[in-house]
Amino acid sequence: MEYPYTRLRRLRKNGIIRSLVKETELTINHIVCPVFVKEMDEKKAEIPSMPGIYQFSLEGVLREIEEIVDLSIPAILLFGIPDKKDEYGSSAFDENGVIQKAVRRIKKLFGDELLVITDVCLCEYTSHGHCGIVKGETVDNDETLKVLSRVALSHVEAGSDMVAPSDMMDGRVRAIRDELDKNGYNHIPIMSYAAKYASSLYGPFRVAAESKPQFGDRSSYQMDFHNKREALTEIELDINEGADIVMVKPAIFYLDVISAARERFTVPIAAYSVSGEYLMVKEASRAGYIDYKKTVIELTTSIKRAGADILITYFAKDLAKWMKEGSL
Ligand code: PBG
Ligand code: ZN
Repeated sequence: MEYPYTRLRRLRKNGIIRSLVKETELTINHIVCPVFVKEMDEKKAEIPSMPGIYQFSLEGVLREIEEIVDLSIPAILLFGIPDKKDEYGSSAFDENGVIQKAVRRIKKLFGDELLVITDVCLCEYTSHGHCGIVKGETVDNDETLKVLSRVALSHVEAGSDMVAPSDMMDGRVRAIRDELDKNGYNHIPIMSYAAKYASSLYGPFRVAAESKPQFGDRSSYQMDFHNKREALTEIELDINEGADIVMVKPAIFYLDVISAARERFTVPIAAYSVSGEYLMVKEASRAGYIDYKKTVIELTTSIKRAGADILITYFAKDLAKWMKEGSL
């Protein structure tokens, strides 16, 4: 062959032809926006570790949700920061806890315009900041399951459309599924944080959710980032226990895991592009060396290209705005 017969550049000639052959497209239907709600007086407080992202009070959050709904974002993932913490995280299952109040108000105002997913964990509610009940120096798996299933039930009783357990205890999907079914909520889906790695990328979130562990770290329950086969075992177990959607978290350092999960399983896969991913892009673009919008689009598209169906991202509102103005 004297010269190339196969010229891939033919299909890259201009924007029209490039979009004709585009393989991956972001759409608003698959985007979930995390929201932080806190029992506090000010309506909103900017989170120092996450410029552009706020904690909202029970009142302030309604304005924010209105904006989210106006942007056609279909779903939120709600995190609560209570005013009281204790060893057992008991405000997590209080019917007048921050999440329960927020969910009731949001569902009352917005009904089925918005899917409300609630994060089920204890780390924001425990005085020690761990995701479960601490006995001695360790987090007790089975004691934690009892509390988590109560938390999940209380969210659903308040009106949550879907619960998302993020604690990484063994067997929590089954425990929550049983509790919901026993109480007449067999129609409520569970999105499990199935392959959740112990990652440095969570740092900014722990400021936002006020959930930094007061001693030790989370590596005795979250996954070791050296492992990929183990992630598939985690996901398989959660599916067998009744998870409707499984999540991989973080996203961009774990695209191989998303891709492997996509090949192996048929259930919907969610990817959580976490706080550290957000902050890296924010800071690098603030320094002026990368283009914010282009980087956000490339980052989020890569997660979809890897095989994620659902994308949980702090870029949700920016993406939605660009979609609305047709500039994506
Ligand atoms: C823990 C939890 C974490 C995140 C959400 N829920 C991680 C952690 O503190 O270990 C991280 C989300 C983010 O970084 O955006 N239940
Ligand atoms: Zn937690």
